[in-house]
Amino acid sequence: DGFSAEKLFSQGYSYTYDDVIFLPHFIDFSTDAVSLSTRLSKRVPLSIPCVASPMDTVSESHMAAAMAALGGIGIVHYNCDIDTQASVIRHAKSLQVPIASDAVFKCPEHQIGSVDDFGPSSFVFVSQTGTLTPKLLGYVSKSEWSSMKDDQKEVKIYDYMKSCENKDYYVPWDIDLDKIEAVLEDKQKGFVVLEKEGETVNVVTKDDVERVKGYPKLGSGTVGADKKWMVGAAIGTRESDKERLEHLVKAGANVVVLDSSQGNSIYQLEMIKYVKNTYPELDVVGGNVVTMYQAENLIKAGVDGLRVGMGSGSICTTQEVCAVGRGQATAVYKVSTLAAQHGVPVIADGGISNSGHIVKALVLGASTVMMGSFLAGSTEAPGAYEYRNGRRVKKYRGMGSLEAMTKGSDQRYLGDTAKLKIAQGVVGAVADKGSVLKFIPYTMHAVKQGFQDLGASSLQSAHELLRDNTLRLEARTGAAQIEGGIHGLVSYEKKSF
Ligand code: XMP
Repeated sequence: DGFSAEKLFSQGYSYTYDDVIFLPHFIDFSTDAVSLSTRLSKRVPLSIPCVASPMDTVSESHMAAAMAALGGIGIVHYNCDIDTQASVIRHAKSLQVPIASDAVFKCPEHQIGSVDDFGPSSFVFVSQTGTLTPKLLGYVSKSEWSSMKDDQKEVKIYDYMKSCENKDYYVPWDIDLDKIEAVLEDKQKGFVVLEKEGETVNVVTKDDVERVKGYPKLGSGTVGADKKWMVGAAIGTRESDKERLEHLVKAGANVVVLDSSQGNSIYQLEMIKYVKNTYPELDVVGGNVVTMYQAENLIKAGVDGLRVGMGSGSICTTQEVCAVGRGQATAVYKVSTLAAQHGVPVIADGGISNSGHIVKALVLGASTVMMGSFLAGSTEAPGAYEYRNGRRVKKYRGMGSLEAMTKGSDQRYLGDTAKLKIAQGVVGAVADKGSVLKFIPYTMHAVKQGFQDLGASSLQSAHELLRDNTLRLEARTGAAQIEGGIHGLVSYEKKSF
């Protein structure tokens, strides 16, 4: 019944995840018996197959720390100068308690416009840079702000804030959540400041602690030999990226991802060899590739992991602009088939918008999935929330969008030497999703249920069942895809009744 993967993917069609569907198999174990433990690359083990994409609206310190705490990993983007990227890595490694507070940060000369400026947080914090680091100057609490008269509010925050100088607010950076809770209780404060060598590492409010306590329990996190969170770093393939890498390794980067939209290039082959010779202990991930031919070149050069996907991302326009790419299901299956013969793990990059896509990517041969839009809009994603048409959203943009390239990411799209910049991505926004610490555990549970339906208790077992043709699939017609989604309902809103 159905087709083997080998047969389905050799018919001349480029399939993406939604085009294919697995036929259920036999269940003889519980969902909890499914293990999703895996590897990002040859020497980087993970307990969940989730990777945050190196994009400047997805992966900075809070995302990297949260993904590592969950058992996955975040790859810090390089759309910034070397020092900034290195300090993001150091900061991620200091976020032992990976809470990304709801709190709002402002510069001293700003005014608070209205109570809305606080968002869901009880505090606005003030720092020289208007961000968490390097040092907090003071805070304004929502309750006091709300009780002020309007004319009193027309002052700079600096003139109104309360100072954070009181030592009672400060705790060491490596304290755990229970101790933070005890300190909050003991000192009767609304927040604590986690500090390392005189610099602010994090701010945790009472509300944050309450929120995090309600999340599903975390499994084992991804910790490196330095006993801190494992963090990946993206770099390009220019000469100057060698200097960048040196700083990132010093900052503690545990794995490096060579970031190119078409990875089968002389530049990348040379960079792989350079990294392997200079840092033999460091795993290097190459890509992106979508064919066996491309993958073979990178494998021969010595990559420890392969990133697969071209034009499948939610913000990508590469297939339309350049006429190259491949449907993501076909790309993952084909590259994984070759990579498995060489023991090289595959990262299925882009196009993940639900747990079913993750199941498909993993069963088709990937060891992990890399996600952009799925993680964007979360509390841990960089950037502030805004309101658009009544919805709370965060910006999400392609690294090949003109806006991102203006900041420096044109290397990935080989536009750095060109006089004309051609966009291969767009800028948009995604809805507030809450914390990844909450929705990734639920997503992983759904993935486990998919594995159970297929009779696969682990990634290895799924890959074996696929390759020995036990698992069967079919292509879905347009109507079958509509049938497989939600359909035939009228919207159920209170207003209409
Ligand atoms: P998702 O679907 O998870 O995709 O949002 C994230 C992946 O998309 C790639 N990426 C781009 N591809 N133009 C492209 O063609 C872009 O501007 C762009 N920015 C990111 C990247 O592989 C990422 O992991």
